[in-house]
Amino acid sequence: MKELRTERLLLRELVESDAPVIAKYMDDPEIASFVANVPYPYSLDDAKNFIRKVQEKAEKHEAYEWGIELEGEIIGAVNIHEISVKHRRAMIGYLLSKEHHRKGIMSEAVRAVIEHAFSELNIERLGAEVYVGNDPSFLLLEKLGFQKEGLLRRHTHHRGMVHDVYVYSLLRVP
Ligand SMILES: CC(C)(COP(=O)(O)OP(=O)(O)OC[C@H]1O[C@@H](n2cnc3c(N)ncnc32)[C@H](O)[C@@H]1OP(=O)(O)O)[C@@H](O)C(=O)NCCC(=O)NCCS
Repeated sequence: MKELRTERLLLRELVESDAPVIAKYMDDPEIASFVANVPYPYSLDDAKNFIRKVQEKAEKHEAYEWGIELEGEIIGAVNIHEISVKHRRAMIGYLLSKEHHRKGIMSEAVRAVIEHAFSELNIERLGAEVYVGNDPSFLLLEKLGFQKEGLLRRHTHHRGMVHDVYVYSLLRVP
C-alpha cells in the first residue's frame, strides 16, 4: 500500500513496533463505544493482533489501514475496508487519539485517503456508517462532502447496546 503525505501528516503502513503507542491511545472508552470490534480495556496484545490483521488484509487487497503519523508518532488511523473491485466501492473508517482532536487532523487525513481512493484505486463510491450520537464523526463526514443516505434502525449490537446507524457516501462523480 502506498504512503500518503499531507501538509502535517504521513499516512503509512503500521508495523509491530507501533503496538505500544497504539495500545496507549486505544485504551479509551469513547473509542470503544463508537468503533465496532474495539475492546476496552485495550491491551498490548490487542494492538499486536490488530496490526497483524491489517497487514494480512492489505496483502489480500481487502482493506488498507494507514497509521497517521504526526511529528514521528502514530496518533490514529484511517482505513478503507470492504473494498469491492467489481463494484468499485469501499467503506471508510477512522479514529484519533483524544489529545489530538479538533485540530483538523482527521479532515486532513481523510481528504488524502479520498483522493488516493478515487484517483489511484479506481473507487467510485466511498461509504461510511456512523452510530447515531457520534456527532463529531458525522459532522466530519458532512464537512468533507459526504451525503447522508439514510438511517439503519437497530442495526448494530455493540457492548450491550443496540445502535441506529447513519449511512453516508461520497461519489467520485457526484
Ligand atoms: C471523529 C474524529 C475522528 C474527528 O477527528 P478530528 O481530527 O477531531 O476532526 P477535525 O478536527 O478534522 O474536525 C472536522 C469537523 O468535524 C466536526 N467535529 C469534529 N469533532 C467535533 C466535536 N467534538 N464536536 C462537534 N463537531 C466536531 C466539525 O465540523 C469539524 O470541523 P470544524 O473544526 O471546522 O468545526 C474523532 O472525534 C475521533 O477519533 N472520535 C472517536 C473515534 C470515532 O468515533 N471514530 C469514527 C467512528 S464512525
